[in-house]
Amino acid sequence: MKGLVLSGGKGTRLRPITYTSAKQLVPVANKPVLFRVIESIRDAGIDDIGIVIGDTGEEIRNAVGNGRRWDVRITYIEQEQPLGLAHAVKISRDFLGDDRFVMFLGDNCLQGGISPLIRQFGSSSFNSQIVLKEVSDPRQFGVAELDDTGRVMRLMEKPREPRSNLALVGVYMFDHHIWEAVEAIRPSSRGELEITDAIAWLVNNGYEVHPYVHAGWWIDTGKKDDLLEANRLILEELVHDVQGYVSRDSQISGRVIIEPGAEVIHSTIRGPAVIGEHTRIINSYIGPFTSVYHHCLIEDSEVEHSIVLENSTVRDLPHRLEDSLIGRNVEIGRSPLKPRAYRLMLGDNSSVGVL
Ligand code: G1P
Repeated sequence: MKGLVLSGGKGTRLRPITYTSAKQLVPVANKPVLFRVIESIRDAGIDDIGIVIGDTGEEIRNAVGNGRRWDVRITYIEQEQPLGLAHAVKISRDFLGDDRFVMFLGDNCLQGGISPLIRQFGSSSFNSQIVLKEVSDPRQFGVAELDDTGRVMRLMEKPREPRSNLALVGVYMFDHHIWEAVEAIRPSSRGELEITDAIAWLVNNGYEVHPYVHAGWWIDTGKKDDLLEANRLILEELVHDVQGYVSRDSQISGRVIIEPGAEVIHSTIRGPAVIGEHTRIINSYIGPFTSVYHHCLIEDSEVEHSIVLENSTVRDLPHRLEDSLIGRNVEIGRSPLKPRAYRLMLGDNSSVGVL
């Protein structure tokens, strides 16, 4: 079996972070979502993985490399324009050949346990397997309708009036019949070749599409609040591990990871939280559900339920920072300049809430 990861797209809902970087590389609990996806595929026993890349391809290549870190072989497949998930499959034909494969969207985050399912598909007789999850608002996803016996009856991409609450999770498994399907379908109203339409074609042409309803949580990390929620859920499962330096006058409570080279000085960390490599927390409070990535400085400040990306500094804040996603190389602090005023340099599409 082979693996195919889709890692193109513009990430418009995560601007300004995605002006300069790929959405799949935003870390959740200090690990990029894309790395978690690669690990899920590797854990299913697959070592041959193709990654479809677009505008942000260079950055993905630099971050992922040749895959040796995970003991897998990575092949990059360039998609010149984001013409849909089924289009991404189409252009991956040379890489995939007639093998069975799993396709994973590089921004989807799932609670563990999916790897055995992928592994089983390798030796099953199904032509395809889809992963479904009950959601409260199915209109933003592909939606599957099952009959009384649990067979897939109908599939619709982002229906205005969904006939079920079962959304298509971004993990799909196919055999070679998918090639016929992606050739047969036409672009949707948003101008894309939809993978949902290709799967519907398989169903309508009598192929066996097996639905699996995922019991754990699932998050499509396209927006800030989804990322914070994925961060919270992954931190819930964190195993306490302190490798960095913690001064005697600091307090650590709950499950916390302090990565190597990190320093916690005269501070309180209340888990679950993770402090990245070479990050310094000085005279500060880090509250639950916070991930601070590597080479950051948090000084004389309080941060809770937030994600801070690498090389950023938070200093001297008079109020607690909450529910925030802070990008790379960001500096937040008080200004000594008079008159007292907010002095900001924010990227396009930034959003700031002040007291
Ligand atoms: C895509 C698929 C959709 C699926 C979703 C899962 O949506 O088209 O069927 O439910 O991924 O994340 P998109 O991210 O393109 O809006």
